Parts: sequence; C-alpha cells; structure tokens
Amino acid sequence: MPATAPRRVLLDTDPGIDDALAILLALASPEITLTALTVVHGNCPLSEAVANALALLELGGATQIPVAVGCAAPLLRPPFTATETHGLSGLGYARLPAATIAPVAEHGVDLLIRELLAAPGQISLVAVGPLTNLALALRKEPQIVAAIGELIIMGAAFQADGNTTPLAEFNIYADPHAAKIVFDAGLAPTIVPWDITREIRLGRHDIDRLLQRGGPIAEFIAEATRFYIEFHLKQFGYAGCAINDPAALALVYWPHLARTTQAYIDVEISSELTMGKTIADFQGLTGKHPNAQIVTHFDGEGFVAHFVERMEQLIDRLA
Ligand code: RIB
Ligand code: CA
Repeated sequence: MPATAPRRVLLDTDPGIDDALAILLALASPEITLTALTVVHGNCPLSEAVANALALLELGGATQIPVAVGCAAPLLRPPFTATETHGLSGLGYARLPAATIAPVAEHGVDLLIRELLAAPGQISLVAVGPLTNLALALRKEPQIVAAIGELIIMGAAFQADGNTTPLAEFNIYADPHAAKIVFDAGLAPTIVPWDITREIRLGRHDIDRLLQRGGPIAEFIAEATRFYIEFHLKQFGYAGCAINDPAALALVYWPHLARTTQAYIDVEISSELTMGKTIADFQGLTGKHPNAQIVTHFDGEGFVAHFVERMEQLIDRLA
C-alpha cells in the first residue's frame, strides 16, 4: 500500500482506447483515488464516450465512481472525432456489455467546479481529451484556478509533427479555443505532449502477456488495442500503439518518470492552416513568462513495463 494517502484524481476524458487504458490504470493503482470521470467529446461522439466510461468502470469493478456528462462539442468549432484511430464505438474492436449504471445528473463542468472548490489543493486534475469542460469551468468559476492542486494535460505537439494535422495534436486541435483559455488561465499545467507520448508504445508481446491471464479485462485490452495497433501500423508504420493517456495519468504518482522544462506556451486559433498548433518558447524569445512545465524526457520503457504489471494486478484482483 502507498506510504502516503492516495491522491484524489479527477479524470477529464474522451474514452477512446488510450483513455480506457488510463481509466484501468487508475483503478489498478493504490496511489490514486479516482474521484470522478468527467466525459468530453473527442475521440468519439459524447454519447459513445459516456457509454464507454460507464462500461469501463463496470469492467473494472468500480461502479461507485461517478461519471458526469460534459460538453458534446467544442466552444466554437464543429465537433471533430478520431474514429479512424479509435473506431466508431471509440473502443476499437472491443465490445463491452452495456453498463447497468448511469451518469450522475450533475453536468461535468459543474462537477469539476464543485469537487475542486470543496477540496482546495487536494485534487489532481488529469485532462486527456479536448479541454472544453475545463475551459467552461474556468469561465463559470475562475476560483478553481487557486483550488486545483495539480493539472496534468495530455496534448500538444511542440517540436514534433502533429498527429491530426501536420502541425496539431488531436486534443488541442479538436478545441483550440478551449486550450487557449486553459493555457492563459495561470494554471501552470504539466503538459505531456505528443512529442513524448508517441514513443511510449504498447506492443503485441505486451498484449500476449496479458492474454496469458485471460478474463474480460485482458480480452478487452486485446480487442481495443488490436484496432489501435492496426491504425498505428498504417499511419505511423510500427506494430504498437501510443499509450498517451495512461502515461499522463501515471505522473500523478510517479513524477520521476519524467523530466520537465518550464516554458511559455500558446496555441494558434486564427489561421485555418495552422489551427491548433502549439508553440513552446523554450529559448525565452517571446519575453513572456513560462506558463507551463513541459515533459521533455519520459521513461517510456519503464512505464510500459509498469503499465503491464498494473494490468496483471488488476486482472488478478478481479478474477
Ligand atoms: O493525441 C492523442 C490524444 O488525443 C489522446 O488523449 C487520445 O485519446 C486523443 O484524445
Ligand atoms: Ca484521450
């Protein structure tokens, strides 16, 4: 058991295959108490993302964790999904039983505000989808800026090509205006960019190891990542899959996985050609104060081994 009390985590998510792996990692990690899932449009339409979140908590034996429905569309731009990456359902080839639990009545934006204000400095908010929910929460209740204990964002592409346009990463591209509000809010987020996470790869041998244990969780991971690996092979030329979101979540309890650098960051919201492109002023050329710490190094190999071990432990616990 962890030496210190588990860290409370709010996970703002668009499940999505790697989001699903992040949810399972949270359930498998005694260092974390998952306070709630707030769901946002993104990898798939909000309705599928909510159904996936509920079904995943049921799969993980955690139906007590509240799921709140957030925003169905970006602040200004039209909804933009990644069904080529995650499948129409959002979970690839995996088919989970329809959940027997329902989302709470409270809107995701309101749940974020209420939980953060009720426990100032005690909650790590991990945002692994488009930032629409957080942006609206900031507009509705600016006091959450002082209340958030820690903000970790999976998103952005600074010195790497984008994964959605030649320049932009999906979470930022899907709602660049929300990202602009979040980046300018004085939250000093830890940014886990595509530059880093694209190298954190789960392979078929890792999946085969989990399948040796069998059971519904191993089968889910195998079927969800089978689609995800097919996409990566076609799109990026390697037989593995980037587990972006679990890597971001792990920084809540394993910050030593990463090295970070302070920098001023900003996002393009004017030009259609460069929409959603994020810049990081590592050299201080803008003269603007750093507003984020960016992960510049990450022990991807160590994390993948850790992730597989945690999945084995979860499988064994629920067997
Ligand atoms: O660019 C990768 C990110 O966008 C991940 O969070 C993935 O789930 C999608 O939301
Ligand atoms: Ca995601």
